[in-house]
Amino acid sequence: MQNNVMMQINTDFLIIGSGVAGLSFALKVAKFGSVALVTKKEIMDSNTSHAQGGIASVFDKVDSFDLHIRDTLASGDGLCNRDVVEMVVKNGPDRIRELVDLGVHFNVKDKERTDHKSRDYDIDFDLGREGGHSQKRIVHAHDMTGMELESVLVAHVKNQDRIALFENHIAIDLITISTRMKRGQIITTHEDYCCGAYVLDRQTDQVKTFCAKITLLATGGAGKVYLYTSNPDIATGDGIAMGYRAGATVANLEFVQFHPTCLYHPDAKNFLISEAVRGEGAILIDSSGNAFMEKYDPQKDLACRDVVARAIDVELKKSGDDSVFLDISHKNGNFIKERFPNLYEKSLTFGFDMTKEPIPVVPAAHYLCGGIATGMFGRTDLHRLYAVGETACTGLHGANRLASNSLVEALVYSHTAAIQAVKDLGALDFSSTPDPPPWDEVGTTDSDEVIMVSHNWDEIRRFMWNYVGIVRSDKRLARAQRRIESIQKEIHEYYWNFRVSADLIELRNIAIVAELIIKCASHRKESRGLHYNIEYPNRDDSRWQKDTIIRRPFVG
Ligand code: SIN
Repeated sequence: MQNNVMMQINTDFLIIGSGVAGLSFALKVAKFGSVALVTKKEIMDSNTSHAQGGIASVFDKVDSFDLHIRDTLASGDGLCNRDVVEMVVKNGPDRIRELVDLGVHFNVKDKERTDHKSRDYDIDFDLGREGGHSQKRIVHAHDMTGMELESVLVAHVKNQDRIALFENHIAIDLITISTRMKRGQIITTHEDYCCGAYVLDRQTDQVKTFCAKITLLATGGAGKVYLYTSNPDIATGDGIAMGYRAGATVANLEFVQFHPTCLYHPDAKNFLISEAVRGEGAILIDSSGNAFMEKYDPQKDLACRDVVARAIDVELKKSGDDSVFLDISHKNGNFIKERFPNLYEKSLTFGFDMTKEPIPVVPAAHYLCGGIATGMFGRTDLHRLYAVGETACTGLHGANRLASNSLVEALVYSHTAAIQAVKDLGALDFSSTPDPPPWDEVGTTDSDEVIMVSHNWDEIRRFMWNYVGIVRSDKRLARAQRRIESIQKEIHEYYWNFRVSADLIELRNIAIVAELIIKCASHRKESRGLHYNIEYPNRDDSRWQKDTIIRRPFVG
């Protein structure tokens, strides 16, 4: 890797994002070339670090690949790609063994209590259960699985000489060979390919040009498009927005997963109460103490997430209450503290003792099932660009992701994508790739209206929650469409006149992702999985058993 005075950084692999997808890919490809890993805050600031539940995979002898495949397909409500589901499910155990070899510690069973052995492996994982799973198959590290994974992977990345880490660097836009205008505007053509990204160094305010042979988008999800979310502040859909602007196809963005149980408390910003709590016997009750899930699904509190979130929405609209309640106080207090140490401690700080009382919960935006469309090896349809993790739409989740299938997807796809990317590195001809134009700020000034950014940020998140949330209608979607069109005009004008800042970059990205979600949701005239439109309350396989695909129109 080399660095010149134009702030151009040349590398074989450019990885944008430092969650499990980006870190695993980095470790695998670093053996074959130079790697630049760009992350917009500190390396540990990722969605992965917040993952509580675990990794769904088949280890129990009473479980089988067929059952995991069946549960995934059922949750996906007719839109999963079966080949992808089979590939991910069957590769899951090997990827988890690899993590154990790297030093990740998962909970194991007390050997005194049981002789129930995991299949084909000497570790007897303590497997949890979550909604939509017919078996116990959640490999976990207490209630902080993501943090355990992230810490171990980060330690390995930091020890790897061939990985150059760029923290506090936020990507602005991908560079393609047709990038030829001021500030990286892309004129999309059929022959285009990706050759890196423009990236803002947040500490120096300098825009750097990263030139890469292979680029990976691993920026996670977009929960911040919604007012209430379980996601951390970084989840602004950057990869999806950049990929779309560069001409990659996006798919299925109407399928936004709302997690049924986030703590309801004015000071609790995105505090998720893991579904694993229901997996251990917690039940949802209303303010009078009545359990209600049996009215909605035979699997009751362990029904798929779309069903549970909608049931809570119905109960809240009916009662006018602010929240429902999650009750696990009937279980042994020591068991709760040992199984959920983080949730127990954190709830206490908000004044709730989950060993003694029900805690107030509401649904919040949690996971985007759609994203940049990829093939079996994480390739997008923009050459030399890959996408993995929540940024991608692989076909695994269909219309509704099965709980804890996201980490396993990220692990399996970062593995297959790394193999393919290394092959591409050896096979493609990079000699004719032109140098991209340097970043051009000519004619722009420092912003005099920062309020535009914060106002539009709030407005988008609010109308997305109200009009494009758990329950949608044509009228609400049309309202959202009108709002986003007018906000997009303001952002566009602002973007081209003022110097870029991290806030402006994120606003521009959440606006694009919001627009794409609205477009996808308006297009689908049925209800399926996570997309529920009161005007078309039923699933209609004759017309809609297909992905929703959007691609930026070709120009030039
Ligand atoms: C949870 O712990 O409930 C979240 C797990 C997931 O989103 O798969």
